[in-house]
Formats: sequence, structure tokens, C-alpha cells
Amino acid sequence: MSQKLFRNLRLVNSEFTGSEAKRAFIVEAGLITWMGSQNQIPKKLKPKKEFDLKNNLVFPSFIECHTHTVFAGSRAQEFEMRNQGVSYLEIAERGGGILSTVQATRATSAKSLTALTQKRVNNFLAQGVSTLEIKSGYGLDLKNEIKVLQVIKNLKGPRIISTFLGAHAKPAEFKTHEDYLQYLVTTVLPVVKKKKLSDRVDIFIENKFFEKSASQKYLEAAKKLGFAVTIHANQLSFSEGADLALELSAHSADHVIHLNENHIKAFAKSKTVAVLLPAADLYMRCAYPSARKLIDAGATVALATDFNPGSCPTQDLALVGLLARLEMKMSLPEVFKAYTSGAAQALGVSDAEGQLLVGKSANFISTAAELNDFFYSAGSTPKHQLFIRGNEIKSTIIARD
Ligand code: NIG
Ligand code: FE
Repeated sequence: MSQKLFRNLRLVNSEFTGSEAKRAFIVEAGLITWMGSQNQIPKKLKPKKEFDLKNNLVFPSFIECHTHTVFAGSRAQEFEMRNQGVSYLEIAERGGGILSTVQATRATSAKSLTALTQKRVNNFLAQGVSTLEIKSGYGLDLKNEIKVLQVIKNLKGPRIISTFLGAHAKPAEFKTHEDYLQYLVTTVLPVVKKKKLSDRVDIFIENKFFEKSASQKYLEAAKKLGFAVTIHANQLSFSEGADLALELSAHSADHVIHLNENHIKAFAKSKTVAVLLPAADLYMRCAYPSARKLIDAGATVALATDFNPGSCPTQDLALVGLLARLEMKMSLPEVFKAYTSGAAQALGVSDAEGQLLVGKSANFISTAAELNDFFYSAGSTPKHQLFIRGNEIKSTIIARD
């Protein structure tokens, strides 16, 4: 197996508080197999290729752990309605919101959806994202959920983690939420499993969407089938989604705007990651989650865009980090950790990703910029090179200087 040597780099420490110069590492089959001082590379290692990183900073590349990237249509008109005072829930009740994106997505072929989605994936790649979570959830029937998951499977670039979000909203064909969840368990989840299209399920637990008791039955059935669990929890109200996430040891509870002191303590004791989505909170004009309380109590937090056509039509990681700093008072090292190791834990991929250590994937960013230059200017990522499994990604989109 051929070895690549990366040398002359300033390796950022695991707390993102500083860096050490003249470091080097060896990559073999995509994994870091040796790491240390560039003056002490063991003689027995015989790398075929060498990369001089010119004293650049090197740190783990970003993991974007919550997106709804596959969709057709636009909800720009709905955004104006919301700004004129109509609420997200009112729009949903009138058949707009998620269900209008479902209509547009059902009417679009897999081929067109793939083309639309690949461009969006490239936008993430250009910002240094090496691992990208994408949810289904705008198909809401067997045929269309499978179509969307197959689109996700065919995307190129980053490592893609797909999540089945059939339980995003109740489609009009079903009378009750319970009936629809039953259909997902008996008819859709087994096909998702058999075709190996996803091994994670998500659900939107909220008033007027899915209630706690029906969700619990659904998630327990999904767990029995071997799916890991993540939950859209406590976004618009104290919906009990966070309680359920903690009870079921979910990988993550996402949004978590409405939390009490007991929730905070419980997150601190659990491995369930609190995924914070401040760009969605900006668009929804709601409160930001209590990042400081969660972090100070010892909980693991992650940050993500929540990119979707309704509550968060932006893919801008810089904006997310900026809001975390400005509005949630997270320190810059905390933002980096949330977008790397925190996000890896939220996706259940910490064994391979989120930190640069021997045995883990060589997914990293090399840059002549400083850490301070990141999450500073909305809409802009400092010039950098992204490496995935030790291969340089020549992004089709040029990141701005
Ligand atoms: O994470 N809250 C539920 N799902 C998305 C919104 C999806 C949509 O509005 O289309 C979210 O905010
Ligand atoms: Fe979401």
C-alpha cells in the first residue's frame, strides 16, 4: 500500500487553542498511520509521495451534520409571508411549508434532483466540508422517499451520511399521524434497510407534527430494525422531543431551543449531542439555544446549517459559526470543536472522523490563514485546501480569499 507523507505543517491542537510547527503525518489507504515531528520520521517508512504544506495550519475538516439538501422548488414567497407576520405553523396548516416542497420534489425526476443536489453538495465541499449528512423527508411515500435516498447515495465528493426522515410531516393521503408512522414502519423502513439506503432515522417532534407517544413507538420499532436515532427536538415548543432523545440514547437532539435546567443536566450526563442550528433560528426569528449553559454543564454540542428551502435557505457555515460566536457566546475553539469532533459524535462516526489522530481518516484543511480568520466574515471561507482521505479536493467552486 503506497504511503503519502505530509510535512512542514503547523498542526492545530485538539482544543483548537494553538498549533505546533514542523509536524508531519503519513497517510496510507486514507488513514493516518503515523504522526509526529518531521525530524523524527521512522526510517522504515518509505512514502512514495511527499507534500510540503509550507508551514500552513492543518486541522480536521468540517463535518456538516444536519441538512435537508435534496429538494425541488422554492419557498421564497413563503419567506415574504413569514416576514409579513404569517407563522411557520399557519403556513404549514394551509398546505404550504414542508408539504409544498414535498409536492415539488415528488414531481421532479431522480436525474434532475441529482443535478440540483450535486451543485449544493459542491457548495459544502468548497467550504471545507468532508462529511455531509443529508436527510430525506420531502418524498413522504415509499416511491419518493426511496427516490430521494437513491439520489443521496449517488452524490459525489464528501462522505455522505444519509438519514431517513420519512417522519417529517404527515402527507395528505393519511388521516392520522399514527397511521402514517405505522405505514413507515411496515412498508418503508424495511425497504430502506434492505436496499442499505440509510441506517439512521430522524423525526420532527412538535405540536401539529408528531407527538411524543406515537414518536416513541416509531423510534423503538426503528431501533429494533437496527436504525440509529436522531430527533428534531424542542424547536418551536417544549415538545418532549429532547426528553425522548435522552431516553432513547439518540445520537443527537437537534434545534433544542426550548430546554429547562433538567434537560441541560441530562445532556451533560449523556452521549446525546445537542445539535445547534443558529442560522435556522435567525430565519425563524426565534430564540437561540442555550449553548453556554450546555457547554458549561459539560454537554457535547455540534453546529450545523439545517440547510432546507423553508426554515433555513442557506448553506453558509461561516454564518453559522458567526452566529454561534455573536449570539450564543461560543468561543472560537468551541465553534471549531462543534463543527468537527462534536458533529462526528452527532453522526456516530467519531471512531473515524472529527480529529486528526493515528487510525483516523486523513480528512483535513490546510490553510495559510489563521484560525481567527474563520467564522468571522459571513459568506466567506478563507482560502484553503481540503483533503479527504489524503486526497486533495479540487473544488469546482472557488472559495473566496
Ligand atoms: O429543521 N423542523 C423541521 N424541519 C426543517 C424545516 C423543513 C422545512 O421547513 O422545509 C427544520 O427546520
Ligand atoms: Fe432540520
